[in-house]
Amino acid sequence: MKLKEITEKNRIAWNAVMPYHQKAKKEEWDRNFRKTGYIIQQEPELRRLKELGIAGKKIIHLCCNNGRELLSLKNMGADFCLGVDISDAAIKGAKERAATCNIAVDYLRSDVYDLGDEYTGCFDLVYMTIGGLVWLPDIKRFFGIVNKLLKPEGHFFIYDSHPFSNLLPWEGDANTKVEITQPYFHSEAWEWSDGMDYYGGAEYEAPVHFEFTYTLSEILMALIYNQIEIRFMGEYEKDISCGFEWLEQRSMKLPLSYILIGQKQKDIIDGDKTNKSGRSKNCRI
Ligand SMILES: C[S@@+](CC[C@H](N)C(=O)[O-])C[C@H]1O[C@@H](n2cnc3c(N)ncnc32)[C@H](O)[C@@H]1O
Repeated sequence: MKLKEITEKNRIAWNAVMPYHQKAKKEEWDRNFRKTGYIIQQEPELRRLKELGIAGKKIIHLCCNNGRELLSLKNMGADFCLGVDISDAAIKGAKERAATCNIAVDYLRSDVYDLGDEYTGCFDLVYMTIGGLVWLPDIKRFFGIVNKLLKPEGHFFIYDSHPFSNLLPWEGDANTKVEITQPYFHSEAWEWSDGMDYYGGAEYEAPVHFEFTYTLSEILMALIYNQIEIRFMGEYEKDISCGFEWLEQRSMKLPLSYILIGQKQKDIIDGDKTNKSGRSKNCRI
């Protein structure tokens, strides 16, 4: 199957689950974001974002889904904020929340691979959070897009599930024996047809969807290949996936999440395509 066909199936699957996510979380998130300056990020992410500095930055959040984290970045003083997601229903919900809570951020329904030249070199920060990367069929090409979006010396920030957690079973309790149930190395797409309501647990007929599990070295090498220098990496025992809370309680701590911060190199800007400050001439933001 072509990569575009995979993404199209994923778009349909995300549209199908969004009403259930909205049902489970809309009221809570709307209520919280009506409070002035509300911030949804927690430690260890919050500390790293503060260290990086959010105020005054132009930020693009890729695979933003419901858009909640971008609202927080705006509340932390970010300048221009754009959330991008393939799902029509996710973008609709995100736009509605931003309007309801009167927070000036923008959302765009687009495949990340289709982001046009008008965004080239526009952003100080490309931001990604839990569960974004697994949907992207070509990781090398993806980080090429990240490079393209960033201003020279701009940062890439990701807080996601640790690739190690791909090995582990999703369900368990304090007595469950921790067993390896899936391979670490797997270059094909995983095909699923189970429901994705990880917030409300609703059972519904889920359209087929496809995920990709990347190893740590595949992630790092895709960044390196695209001239994004690694500035920080942290591994955490904290589960951010809604799937492994049962593992957090164990005395044997496992790597369940990670933060990775990269920085675009300064010296790879094509002089013909940029103005004196290194900003793309195509950038309309
Ligand atoms: C697990 S969700 C992200 C959740 C979000 N980090 C949060 O915590 O609320 C993954 C999102 O990636 C989006 N997505 C998948 N493939 C995409 C693509 N090619 N371009 C843009 N968005 C994509 C899906 O529509 C979905 O909303």
